[in-house]
Amino acid sequence: MKCSCLCFLAILLLPAALLHAAEKGYATFAAATVHPLATQAALQAYEKGGNAIDAAVAAGLTLGVVDGHNSGIGGGCFFVIRAKDGTLTCIDGREMAPTQANRDMYVIDGKLDPEASRTGALASAVPGVLRAYERALQQHGKLSLAELLLPAAAIAEQGFPIDEVYARKLAATADKLKKFPASAALFFKADGSPLQRGDKLVQKDLAATYRAVAQHGTKWFYEGPYATQMEAWMHQNGGILTAADMASYVAKEREPVTASYRGYDIVAMPPPSSGGVHVAQILQIMEHFPIRDMPEASRVHVITEAMKLAFADRAHWLGDPDFVRVPRGLIDPAYAAELAEKINLNQPAPVKSHHMPPRWEGDIFGKHTTFLCTADAEGNWVALNQTLNTAFGSKVIVPGTGVLLNDEMDDFAVQPGVPNAFKLIGAEANAIAPGKRPLSSMSPTIIFKEGQPMLVTGAAGGPTIITQVLLLISNVIDRGLGPNAALQQPRFHHQWSPDELKIEKAFGTETLAELEKMGHALDRSSGFGSCQAILWDESRKLLIPAHDPRVPGLSIGR
Ligand code: GLY
Repeated sequence: MKCSCLCFLAILLLPAALLHAAEKGYATFAAATVHPLATQAALQAYEKGGNAIDAAVAAGLTLGVVDGHNSGIGGGCFFVIRAKDGTLTCIDGREMAPTQANRDMYVIDGKLDPEASRTGALASAVPGVLRAYERALQQHGKLSLAELLLPAAAIAEQGFPIDEVYARKLAATADKLKKFPASAALFFKADGSPLQRGDKLVQKDLAATYRAVAQHGTKWFYEGPYATQMEAWMHQNGGILTAADMASYVAKEREPVTASYRGYDIVAMPPPSSGGVHVAQILQIMEHFPIRDMPEASRVHVITEAMKLAFADRAHWLGDPDFVRVPRGLIDPAYAAELAEKINLNQPAPVKSHHMPPRWEGDIFGKHTTFLCTADAEGNWVALNQTLNTAFGSKVIVPGTGVLLNDEMDDFAVQPGVPNAFKLIGAEANAIAPGKRPLSSMSPTIIFKEGQPMLVTGAAGGPTIITQVLLLISNVIDRGLGPNAALQQPRFHHQWSPDELKIEKAFGTETLAELEKMGHALDRSSGFGSCQAILWDESRKLLIPAHDPRVPGLSIGR
């Protein structure tokens, strides 16, 4: 422990440029994802003449094949894009509640059926990924959606060996997946056991779906044979999602959340993600404390208290801005100063409920997940989060399509005050309504220094996404670490409710004991989350990509 303290002190004393110099960088392109085949697909798209936007879509489509328990075209996504001309674009490809959805659809005889929003026909909202990819490519890409779909289709057709994470999630959800014949046929062997690590997963139906979209465009999916087939299955299985819901889906462009932290500018995803708002809010509260110079336990304590305050606001204020009024005052620096005052440096302070941001009545936001990022030397940067929600989403594959459907309806507050799969509670702002998009924690973020992009990051892991992202940003900005070193730092997470501090054991017994002594209830973890990042190393003029050492993945460049 003493040795690691000294090493850490040595790290802090090194100038940032030297710390970055220890990490591998690339001159023209960089990508980081949770799967080598997806990262390679990004690089191949770039080498074919594409840019960072094309590369991100290539990686996203490939993840839908090789990491399909996390995301795919049956789910949703958010893009934050900085194009080479300096344009900032946030694309909301979040799923949308069906027209027949209603706020009490999971309450039967006054009793909530929590499984219904997570598994089966009623769990799915209208998927948004393909429409979002299309929009991103139309606005900023160089390659066509078809060109990016075909290599991913080839992987689906030929098959690939599933990795440890895939096999673990498959084993954990096997009982539920088995209930749906098309899912059972894909993921289980003849003897009924799930595929194991190293077994080949061949997805011929998904390959055919990708190829059909490549040939006929996204209309085939949203307004054609896929939508019809999906509606028929829903009808036979008690679902409410219709072909008309699919046809009405639009990927929306949203105004980015912008804020600053210690002279750096943050550009992030606005509602219906809570990510941008709360990453910005927590960082702005942290700005009132000398984070860099604080002893470890005090630093963890202060950031934890800031997390609690932000998550209490999240539970009350956040929802789809097309349906509810989300106050912009949540990211007002004056409000952050007010909240910072509530932090007691010596002990946890109870946070009974949300607070009242300034101008809350009038100044509002306009109208098991994965993260990947790409950047190129032309100045295109992409942060892309995509999800099916929990592992394998609703567990439903519509027969003949290979498409796993999301269970994003569970990201609504299915009953006010009742926790969802991530133990998050919500209020009226995130109640179900037809056409509404459920609140997300996905936090694709780009950080700028003097107007130039210098860091892109994001994460997977439900509400811990928000805290992983802000810790990565703080480790880079406050502690001067390169992205790989920053991702190695132990993490912690507090989401206000439940009142417990999830914290990695890697902090060591001394720090954990100190936090406990202060009064924190600890939930010790051997490791959580999955975060990626790319940093621009100004001194070497190189892009440094990094993926989370806690999970498989690959970061490469050229
Ligand atoms: N489905 C997880 C999230 O969007 O936050």
